[in-house]
Amino acid sequence: MRDRGRRLGIELDEDIRTALRAAIAQLDAARVDAPTTTARLLLAHTLDKPKEWLVAHGDARLDAAAQQRFGSLLRRVVAHEPLAYVLGHREFYGLDLIVDPRVLIPRPETEMLVELALDELKAAHPRSPILHSRFSVLDVGTGSGAIPIAIAKHVPDAHILATDIGADALAVARLNAERHGVADRITLLQADLLDGLVALPPIVTANLPYVTREEIEGLPPEIQAHEPRVALDGGDDGLALVRRLLEQVAARMAMRDRASLPRAVFLEIGASQGPAALAAARTLLPHAQAEVKKDLAGLDRVLAIRLS
Ligand SMILES: C[S@@+](CC[C@H](N)C(=O)[O-])C[C@H]1O[C@@H](n2cnc3c(N)ncnc32)[C@H](O)[C@@H]1O
Repeated sequence: MRDRGRRLGIELDEDIRTALRAAIAQLDAARVDAPTTTARLLLAHTLDKPKEWLVAHGDARLDAAAQQRFGSLLRRVVAHEPLAYVLGHREFYGLDLIVDPRVLIPRPETEMLVELALDELKAAHPRSPILHSRFSVLDVGTGSGAIPIAIAKHVPDAHILATDIGADALAVARLNAERHGVADRITLLQADLLDGLVALPPIVTANLPYVTREEIEGLPPEIQAHEPRVALDGGDDGLALVRRLLEQVAARMAMRDRASLPRAVFLEIGASQGPAALAAARTLLPHAQAEVKKDLAGLDRVLAIRLS
């Protein structure tokens, strides 16, 4: 038993302080990011306590079962499984979301898409058709449902259509929508971009995969080996899906079917993709107003297109 404890990097009967110290050393040796915070989060999760509790209870003893649970979580993170998958959740826009390897772990930069959609919705008059059309927003490639759930939590009148190419991802989005009490206002649909959608809601958001094939090879193991490839791979220049979605909007414009067109489209892009994304929008939608919006770090982050 004592040997097994040693193999896990923790001593039997050790206290919280000692267990944390050993865990931090292992995480550091494995070059895991933020070893101290990571060790605390893992132990807090193991004990089902807030991480502040650990600081105040450094002398408390860990029983054998807790040490075993902590050791097995620690091993997964040392093997570069993403912390969010090990913990089973991640915070996004102040909401706790369930995440697992079926979905991309939501990133803070994506909160900008939520802000932009909320600005549009809040600018709308309470009786405006935006809020009372069947759907106010379409989120394409919804993954964990992070974007539609954040929007639905902030705009009680909003109904959102959320699509993904993967049924697996939609199952996670459903769990999250139910958990946050907005499942009745989010319709989940399996679709390849806009295929099969007849009319588009006034606002479209999408954080489509935008990592280039070459960049994927250089990503840290936590991302490259664990997050779904279908959530990362944006083709040779990262903009393959963005361009295809713009082509689908352009085809609807060419049919002069204004009812099936959104007013605003917000697409997340990579920091180096601003000029190419803008050029694609100007070529494919020459009559629309397109601009690239920067995030709080001053990096190109969202291609914003206004069609009316
Ligand atoms: C970068 S992830 C974003 C997930 C989520 N929106 C977020 O921000 O956390 C991209 C998502 O797009 C989905 N996807 C990839 N190709 C797609 C396609 N052709 N049509 C619809 N969704 C697609 C993936 O399954 C994945 O869930």
